[in-house]
Amino acid sequence: MRITMAKNATPQRDSVMEHFSIVQALCRAAMADASPALRKQVERLRDALAKDGEAKQSSALTSILTTADRTKELAPSRIERSKAPLLGEILGRNTPVPVDRETSAALAEIIFPADIESSAPLFNATVRQAIGTIIEEWEHFDALAEIDIRPSKTCLIYGAPGTGKTRLALWIARELDLPVVLVKLDGLVSSFLGTTARNIGNLFTFANRYRCVLLLDEFDAIAKVRDDPQEVGEIKRVVNALLQNLDIRRDVGFTVGITNHPKLLDPAVWRRFEVQLEIPKPDFDMRKTIAAHFMPPVKAPDSHLRLISWFTEGATGAEIESLVRTYKKATTVREEDKRGLLDTLRQFATLNAARVQSERRALLFEDSTSLFRAMRDDPILNFSMADIGEISGKDKSTVSRQLGKQAAALSEGEVPNG
Ligand SMILES: Nc1ncnc2c1ncn2[C@@H]1O[C@H](COP(=O)(O)OP(=O)(O)OP(=O)(O)O)[C@@H](O)[C@H]1O
Ligand SMILES: [Mg+2]
Repeated sequence: MRITMAKNATPQRDSVMEHFSIVQALCRAAMADASPALRKQVERLRDALAKDGEAKQSSALTSILTTADRTKELAPSRIERSKAPLLGEILGRNTPVPVDRETSAALAEIIFPADIESSAPLFNATVRQAIGTIIEEWEHFDALAEIDIRPSKTCLIYGAPGTGKTRLALWIARELDLPVVLVKLDGLVSSFLGTTARNIGNLFTFANRYRCVLLLDEFDAIAKVRDDPQEVGEIKRVVNALLQNLDIRRDVGFTVGITNHPKLLDPAVWRRFEVQLEIPKPDFDMRKTIAAHFMPPVKAPDSHLRLISWFTEGATGAEIESLVRTYKKATTVREEDKRGLLDTLRQFATLNAARVQSERRALLFEDSTSLFRAMRDDPILNFSMADIGEISGKDKSTVSRQLGKQAAALSEGEVPNG
């Protein structure tokens, strides 16, 4: 194609301009997948036209060029393959996060693997194994797909508050070396109810564009407002938006949902998650392990860890963590005072009255002899006199004398009545 750009118009030039719409279409088609050399030629043509005073035609070409730039930004042409088998662009620290149009509040928080705590949360063997399987499958997604196995890309984690669900989800992402797009649905739903459906759409579009784990935390928030009669229509829209977006995302990237109240979840939402992982409250051994985990740099004797675990039956990791923090304060401030642990436990039992087993709770506030006896006789604790001494700050012979005296008093007391 030869276009004459001479200022003094010739019949030839007129005929080219007459057919400029074809030139324009040619340029647009070419720019859809343009090499740098081709792009350069379109730019040359635009500049030449501008120089000749053909402003309209020149700006038509400018617009073709900018549109091409914009589409290129959106298209997954800069696809990367990495450890986790996901397609998509790389999320960087400068990537703009979608915001609510009215309030400009960010709709998600991006958390990078390097910023996630490296130590694994502590769970029993069964849960650990289940988590291991999820990570393994996600890491080998491609290899498994080749042998016709499609591991699920969606996982719902549920369990009591404070059992370590959010921490677990973040840790899984760290293991996969993927950033997390963390969405707190409670915030999203309560503050922007009117625009929630649109925000959900924008969030998913964003997450689908990048290599990431989409983490939908506090999932039950949507279920909770469902019962509000004034919001029925809106919530229906929100749930529908969520379902549609979950369906689209299913084949795109990893999604983790978290909830404290799985029963409140819409069954349709619940079904969207192929893996459903329940996080139980920690048992005696796990509670002791969790207490030991949060103890450093303070060194607590094993008897202290066991007693902490015994008194926190039914408690969550978060509660044990906070108890250990109090214990560390107490033992550091009053190092010579060995009653630090009992004081801490009393404080815990007072502040968490409903959570501590009532019999064990009563022991803390009764005379020390009953407590010592319970510790000695409990089959799980199975404390020796030395262990009890370590807790009460007495030596073991004093403890055994105290227990002996009481036993004697009891048997004496029994004679007259017997
Ligand atoms: N199993 C655990 N192992 C290690 N740390 C734990 C565990 N459970 C709880 N924690 C600690 O408790 C705190 C709360 O954990 P996290 O926020 O993950 O709980 P959650 O289950 O998401 O709670 P919520 O439902 O209230 O959001 C964290 O600081 C975490 O370190
Ligand atoms: Mg949480």
